[in-house]
Amino acid sequence: MKAISTAIATLLALAHQCCANLDIITLNTKGDAWIQEARATLVLGKVPNPMAGDVALWSAIMMDKRDFLQGVTENALNSPYCNNLGSNWCNFAYTLVGSQVAKNGAPVSAAPGSRIKTHYKLNPDTNQWDQNLYVNDKLLSSISTSQGQHGVIFYVSIECAAGTCSPAPAHAWEDISITLNKADPSFKHTGAWQYKATGGEMSTPDNGKTWNFTTVHIPDTAITG
Ligand SMILES: *[C@@H]1O[C@H](CO)[C@@H](O)[C@H](O)[C@H]1NC(C)=O
Repeated sequence: MKAISTAIATLLALAHQCCANLDIITLNTKGDAWIQEARATLVLGKVPNPMAGDVALWSAIMMDKRDFLQGVTENALNSPYCNNLGSNWCNFAYTLVGSQVAKNGAPVSAAPGSRIKTHYKLNPDTNQWDQNLYVNDKLLSSISTSQGQHGVIFYVSIECAAGTCSPAPAHAWEDISITLNKADPSFKHTGAWQYKATGGEMSTPDNGKTWNFTTVHIPDTAITG
């Protein structure tokens, strides 16, 4: 068990890179239940002021064989992904493959108020994970990776991925839903999520296979380690 937790700790350190990482939602599967599909819609708030470092907002699924699927939204001073970002956010499908190699879909900039939906699904035809990112319901960024892997942890997080970051302005996550491979009523989290987030109450229409969340509201949040 110790070796396993060390491996996971190492992976988290790599996946989350430098600086500071605040996990608002951390939701672990249990036993032989695993995540086969998830979606989450970020309603973009204002950009950080002043623009500094690299503020990233993401949902993600950690896989059992180390891949980390991450629908990323970021605002960085010199974004390596979006040119002339200005007061927009940069959005893209992203996967850390085996903690070493990153793959990403097309980066797309979007203004505050836009709705960024990431849909993650283990495609039964290809056995690959299709990760599709939609801006205001238009599919604009996608990748397929992680053949045969199973989701084990779902995250919603705020990260300072480089340098020193301004606080992450208030934002909301709508229509989060997670589908397990089989019903597990014990997947439900009760009580508040982290960092003064409100909402995010989980319910299931089918006794524990599909889980839907009420809107999660995250206030202005300083990002310090
Ligand atoms: C739960 O989420 C799924 C997937 O987004 C959606 O199709 C379904 O309508 C939702 N159910 C409820 C009760 O909101």
